[in-house]
Amino acid sequence: MTTVTNTHYNYKVVRQFAVMTVIWGIVGMAVGLFIAAQLVWPELNFEPYLTFGRLRPLHTNAVIFGFGGSALFATSYYIVQRTCQARLISDRLAAFTFWGWTLVIVLAAITLPLGMTSSKEYAELEWPIDILITVVWVVYAIVFFGTIMKRKIRHIYVANWFYGAFIITIAILHVVNNMEIPVTLYKSYSVYSGAIDATIQWWYGHNAVGFFLTAGFLGMMYYFVPKQAERPIYSYRLSIVHFWALIAIYIWAGPHHLHYTALPDWAQSLGMIMSLILLAPSWGGMINGVMTLSGAWHKLRTDPILRFLVVSLSFYGMSTFEGPMMAIKTVNALSHYTDWTIGHVHSGALGWVAMISIGAMYHLIPKVFARDGMYSTGLINTHFWLATIGTVLYIVSMWVNGITQGLMWQAVNVDGTLQYSFIESVQASSAGYIVRMVGGGFFLAGMLVMLCNVWQTVRGIGQDDVETAATSA
Ligand code: HEM
Ligand code: HEM
Repeated sequence: MTTVTNTHYNYKVVRQFAVMTVIWGIVGMAVGLFIAAQLVWPELNFEPYLTFGRLRPLHTNAVIFGFGGSALFATSYYIVQRTCQARLISDRLAAFTFWGWTLVIVLAAITLPLGMTSSKEYAELEWPIDILITVVWVVYAIVFFGTIMKRKIRHIYVANWFYGAFIITIAILHVVNNMEIPVTLYKSYSVYSGAIDATIQWWYGHNAVGFFLTAGFLGMMYYFVPKQAERPIYSYRLSIVHFWALIAIYIWAGPHHLHYTALPDWAQSLGMIMSLILLAPSWGGMINGVMTLSGAWHKLRTDPILRFLVVSLSFYGMSTFEGPMMAIKTVNALSHYTDWTIGHVHSGALGWVAMISIGAMYHLIPKVFARDGMYSTGLINTHFWLATIGTVLYIVSMWVNGITQGLMWQAVNVDGTLQYSFIESVQASSAGYIVRMVGGGFFLAGMLVMLCNVWQTVRGIGQDDVETAATSA
């Protein structure tokens, strides 16, 4: 096997996306905290630009596509180069993906508060931005697969399989779901209507979860958990079964978002059954990650980066157990429209997506900035506890709220009238909203601690500046 030094790799684009991961994380979560506060103090709704309805999609776009997306770009470029022992095929195209993607998020931050929206969840951006996303994504695919094609070792490591599936599937989902007819520069209408529109939207929506918020992050898991634990992956064979099973099953589960709607009943049942089956590959992957620590468990005592990675897997396991349960029609009759869904979302989003990204960034940032480690391990540890406590406060409060709301909405008097008015269920939820806001505050505080740590690491405070990667383009 040829040995390739760091200077052969393009780390510049990795550094850029890594820094933007932290920045978009802080921006998106600050907006999340603000909308959480609006649900506690409705007076914080400032008409027309800063209302809950306009800021909520800004939150989801900034955290999913800004924070999550930048983490995915940074780690995929890092991993594909190191595991293929080849530099990205083009520095210019890689730079284009960085500036193009960052522009997309900036445009989201401008247009959404202005009320420009296609009104499809997680695909709110209007048609000119959709076209920009498509161009950036095609270039991303060229850079990623082009680098795989010029690899110096025959084998394609499993992490790249997950990133590859994520890139191809998101391209298809984005184009099909955003087929729209422009009316003006700022407004378009979907070509689909009624139940077909809903089916396409949730085929997209659920696979955005499966491929944007899961497959790429599993790629991260397969690289960073073994690296940080300094152990080989528990079972390579299981990782291949995990990959094919996950991508074959995820694509069918979308209708669980449309239980008891105009969607044909058989399609709802199919979505439910596929969701239940999905538990198996999800847990197969989680077990593969966790078991990689066999013989290295003691490292958890001293290594907060490893703790981020392992706790993220626990939350992944938890949310992928909860999801199939919520997909069962009778359970969904209680959970749908309630805060239980919001709790489920954030056990996946904060516990899984954010925690694994944070762990990956702490591993990768010193390497691409040519430092011998992060500035402070103590600060990583502080971040770990703020993030863990914040996530637990968030999801527990939303479970309590969700079940309370579901039971109150279903309660009927002997004469068949509703026992509670809607506003009574809102009043019963107020304590939970306060606890969620505090949990979000903890999580955001952790991100600010991360910013300080990253800033000091980049400046090289207390570090021996190793002249390797930083000099590469
Ligand atoms: C400080 C951290 C965060 C806070 C305080 C927060 C807060 C919120 C709030 C208040 C909502 C609206 C809930 C509602 O409509 O009742 C929301 C929705 C959402 N958030 Fe977050 N969030 C945070 C982090 C994240 C992260 C990191 C992600 C993704 C990686 C994320 C993804 C989402 C999604 C997908 C929704 C929409 C859920 C749905 O429609 O069911 N959030 N968040
Ligand atoms: C086996 C895996 C999973 C299954 C079967 C599943 C199932 C479900 C179900 C049944 C709902 C509620 C639909 C409704 O009543 O409206 C839901 C909502 C959601 N889940 Fe999952 N889930 C899984 C994993 C995850 C993970 C890991 C994440 C995040 C990383 C996630 C993110 C979401 C989001 C964002 C929503 C809210 C969508 C919306 O209404 O806006 N899910 N999921």
